Amino acid sequence: MKQICVIGVGYVGLVTAACFADLGNRVIALDINEERVEGLKRGVMPIYEPGLKEVVDHNARSGRLSFTTSYAEGLSGTQFVFIAVGTPSGVDGEADLRYVETVARTIAETMTSPLIIVNKSTVPVGTGDWVADIVKSHQPKPIPFAVVSCPEFLREGSAIGDFTQPHRTVLGSLDRDAAEKVAQLHLPLRAPIVITDLRTAEMIKYASNAFLATKISFINEIANICEALGADVKEVAIGMGYDARIGKAFLDAGLGYGGSCFPKDVKALAYMAAEKGRHPQLLRAVMDINDDRRRTAILHLQDMVGDFRGKLIGLLGLSFKPNTDDMRDAPSITLAQKLLAGGATVRAYDPVAMDVARGLLPQVEMMSDPYTLAEGCDALMVVTEWNEFKQLDLEKIKSLMRRPVIFDGRNIYDPEDMTAMGFSYRGLGRGYNGASDK
Ligand code: UDX
Repeated sequence: MKQICVIGVGYVGLVTAACFADLGNRVIALDINEERVEGLKRGVMPIYEPGLKEVVDHNARSGRLSFTTSYAEGLSGTQFVFIAVGTPSGVDGEADLRYVETVARTIAETMTSPLIIVNKSTVPVGTGDWVADIVKSHQPKPIPFAVVSCPEFLREGSAIGDFTQPHRTVLGSLDRDAAEKVAQLHLPLRAPIVITDLRTAEMIKYASNAFLATKISFINEIANICEALGADVKEVAIGMGYDARIGKAFLDAGLGYGGSCFPKDVKALAYMAAEKGRHPQLLRAVMDINDDRRRTAILHLQDMVGDFRGKLIGLLGLSFKPNTDDMRDAPSITLAQKLLAGGATVRAYDPVAMDVARGLLPQVEMMSDPYTLAEGCDALMVVTEWNEFKQLDLEKIKSLMRRPVIFDGRNIYDPEDMTAMGFSYRGLGRGYNGASDK
């Protein structure tokens, strides 16, 4: 049985720890946040992630997964230590590495036997070398260690499935033997394993996320053009997606990408490029197009309901995407702020994110369900494509609203059906019933 210590019990750390324990390893998950660790010991998850609690509970009961705030306990008898702490964005987009630095220093000061240090956090290219320098310079006496980069590709909302059925595992190290040992840990996942050098592995993570963000901004640009020319972007995406070179995934036009990864990673990659004198024009366009989505949505709604002053607007969904309560860089925040600034009264309903959202949007009234939300509204905006919104009794919604206006920021409804039902309805990029701009 291998012993692994995972540092950081956020999304990435907790999923990694729980899933490695589930593969039969002995895992100690370490975090300096005592409240989180105490909660986990009692079975309280610090985040909402489908299926996570079950895997954590099962492995904690079996004794394979435990929690601690102590580095001495976490590193004792451990062969692998995974770093999974946050790397927030600084003001210019540069990644803030203070947590990684503290972890590297503390590992160096605490380790008593050889270690393979595996970095899972998304870090600027070159960070692995920097971590190795920090560890080396802070060890009281030299103990062998190696640094391996193993970037995570977990999506919130399907993180357990993404861990257990990955498309690939990427490993980068200057120490081939250490990379092979980390590869052994991943063999039960039966996915292709790419072993490369440290910097290349770090770059693969940024390039992958930047490519996916580019795909989203691309289809959003097409959506804009579709609106002008009277075509339907949803069907355009279906038609494109059958081409295996293009693929169906990440071609949903809408309010653009949010969350904790894409905005931060595209910005960080552009920053790294600019710092080295390169001009990341494509990445800049990707970010510009994404920012414009939220403005475009507000312009559409204004066109539909007129001046926002005195209007009651309901937001269907708050989290940055379905199946998570994560509100980081969620379009709902910008939209609510713009509506409030325009003089509207804003209320919202989200199946899981309302508790988190309350603190961020104190002026937005949180409602108990979509129907209470719709009561007396001048317009509803679909902000997050939760499945339950696709099954709403729309006749009932219409009868409850003051005016039957729906702006669909995620294109979950059919424009023809909505119009037939008597709604004034718009999606994004859906060429308003085949009519082009005048
Ligand atoms: C992403 C990556 O997918 C994952 O590999 C990485 O490790 C972390 O970042 P996540 O942020 O959880 O994961 O969300 P994801 O499902 O990838 O969606 C990102 C954003 O793109 C969301 O805001 C989503 O609404 C948006 N999106 C996605 C679209 O607007 N259109 C699409 O077609 C797909």
